[in-house]
Amino acid sequence: MTGRVYLSAPDVGVREEELCVAALRSGWVAPLGPMVDAFEEALADRCARRYAVALSSGTSALHLALLELGVGPHDVVVVPTMTFAATANAVVYTGATPVFVDCDPHFGNLDPDLLDEALRSLRREGRRVAAIIAVDLLGHCADYRQIENICQNAGVPVLSDAAEALGASRAGRPAGSFGTAAILSFNGNKVITTSGGGALLTDDERFAERVRYLSTQARQPVAHYEHTEIGYNYRLSNILAALGLAQLERLEEMIARRRRLREGYSEIFADIEGVKIFQRECDAEDNCWLTAILVDSVAAEWKPEELSAMLTAADVESRSLWKPMHQQPVFAGARAFLRGDADRLFAAGLTLPSGSALCPAQVDRVHMLIRSFLSARPNRGASNHVS
Ligand SMILES: Cc1ncc(COP(=O)(O)O)c(C=O)c1O
Repeated sequence: MTGRVYLSAPDVGVREEELCVAALRSGWVAPLGPMVDAFEEALADRCARRYAVALSSGTSALHLALLELGVGPHDVVVVPTMTFAATANAVVYTGATPVFVDCDPHFGNLDPDLLDEALRSLRREGRRVAAIIAVDLLGHCADYRQIENICQNAGVPVLSDAAEALGASRAGRPAGSFGTAAILSFNGNKVITTSGGGALLTDDERFAERVRYLSTQARQPVAHYEHTEIGYNYRLSNILAALGLAQLERLEEMIARRRRLREGYSEIFADIEGVKIFQRECDAEDNCWLTAILVDSVAAEWKPEELSAMLTAADVESRSLWKPMHQQPVFAGARAFLRGDADRLFAAGLTLPSGSALCPAQVDRVHMLIRSFLSARPNRGASNHVS
């Protein structure tokens, strides 16, 4: 396939087909079944957690995790401004209010110092901070050592949004192992996919049981339909879990392919004035979900939008980093603790095709397009000015 090149398309093959067919033939087509159990066990094992609950999306996992952390109306939840809207939306589903905190300038994750400042300010104002959500942006784990320390002192639980980070680690600890609970996404554009899906991870048995119960309409364990709480229809099906199980077997291979793509982009941009690879300084533990460049348009004398427009014209997808939540019309007027770093990353960043399913011809095409864009630009100095 050398047609349209996507940012991060699903990468499925023979093994996925085998396990999905096996699930269909087993008769376990109705929601749950042995593939769900096996997928949960494999996920918990990969993320060094005691429990995993397979759910219909990362967003539903965030929602149920927040409910189980006791988040509700009148509470606030601290959320990094540099994230996908799902992180903040899930807070709103509970009736609580998101408060946005800026990111560190290098890796784009929640800035621990600013988090500390935000928690102190909110406490002084008498607001109850019911949880903080840390996001592992583009598969680079947040600084949990500092974040967990700050939150422990403040008595606030940490929910880790590792939607983009399966397979990454920090100081040897896998993504998904941090916080009171963590969530994963298996959306079609993630490192592994179940077409749509997610998971909740925790070491707390009761937490996992409650999330399982809430995700299956909060049915009481009696013969008839008995409900004492509002429940949700958020479970992952057995067929989709089969797809996830096959994908998980291939996780390391798929991450290695994404890493090679990052290395290819690093070579192309190595000598380009004003351009650097985002998160490259220390990406040995990242899953390289998406590779992005940061463009200092004064030093480079071109803007990321110009490269993006050229790629779009050639049917190659590229996209800016997440537009910060405090800039989103839907969150206009929301409380935010900012230093301008997320705004700067949004203005400078461009994510490039990073999927493990890209074939060599597609990779060559993207490289050729970028090289020809750069060679048409006058400024091709040897230094690299974005810090
Ligand atoms: C940081 C982040 N959080 C949450 C989600 C939501 O996951 P899902 O699409 O599976 O609901 C995503 C991605 O989609 C994400 O990137």
